[in-house]
Amino acid sequence: MAGPPLDRSVRRTGAGWRAGSIARVKTSASLDNDQESETDSGSRLVVAVDGPSGAGKSSTSRGVAIALGLRYLDTGAMYRALTWWLLQRGVDTTDPEVVATLATGPVIEVSTDPGAPWTRVDGTDVSEAIRTREVTAAVSAVAAVPQVRAHLIAMQRQIIGSAPGIVAEGRDIGTVVAPDAPVKVFLTADGAARAGRRAAEASWSTRADQDRRDLLDVAQSGKAADAVEIDSTGLGLGEVVGIIVGLVPSSLQKSRF
Ligand code: DC
Repeated sequence: MAGPPLDRSVRRTGAGWRAGSIARVKTSASLDNDQESETDSGSRLVVAVDGPSGAGKSSTSRGVAIALGLRYLDTGAMYRALTWWLLQRGVDTTDPEVVATLATGPVIEVSTDPGAPWTRVDGTDVSEAIRTREVTAAVSAVAAVPQVRAHLIAMQRQIIGSAPGIVAEGRDIGTVVAPDAPVKVFLTADGAARAGRRAAEASWSTRADQDRRDLLDVAQSGKAADAVEIDSTGLGLGEVVGIIVGLVPSSLQKSRF
């Protein structure tokens, strides 16, 4: 099998991300790169990147998409966009019944260009507005509403299905949104590293906030049985991108973007 090195432990010093000491790459089921099965996505390359907040999913997914010439989908941005729209209207985002009735209210659009991602709600660019503390604090409850998930997952499947090849990041891509993806990654990092990365992106982000969101998000999050788990603690961004690119069957490695 010409697959990736599995269950290995490597010692690295972090480059670009906060340093840790041990990085692990492991899978709970072997990924046979030579014998990819026929999936709904056929010969199209779909890379599913799941994992908790702060594990480095966005930078990594964009890096992989750019390296392989693929599109990029940030599914978390879609949940954030709906949450932003609800907050703008003064909706109680902790009331699942009200949120459910409004789940299909706004027109949400996302760019799938990994070099220039943006998010729009009813034509307004909300790329920055959806990263505020207010939206971040409210989004987990909105994302837990089944009607919200059904609507956004349908949109995500449509985007993934119409792309020539794509890296999609989220919490349930490998398990629910695109279970046939030929490459699945579950990206993790230790709690301190994740909190450090979050704080570097948003100074108001605290470890306590992160722990609270982790608890709320866990019901919507899953590691696919055939996902390769990568612990990015102590790995540089380029190293993680390189590991994921190395997981892609060579038959699917050609520029499509
Ligand atoms: O990755 P993020 O922090 O931008 O995600 C925002 C929220 O959306 C977070 O509460 C998890 C949730 N989410 C989800 O439930 N399913 C996804 N596929 C992506 C994000």
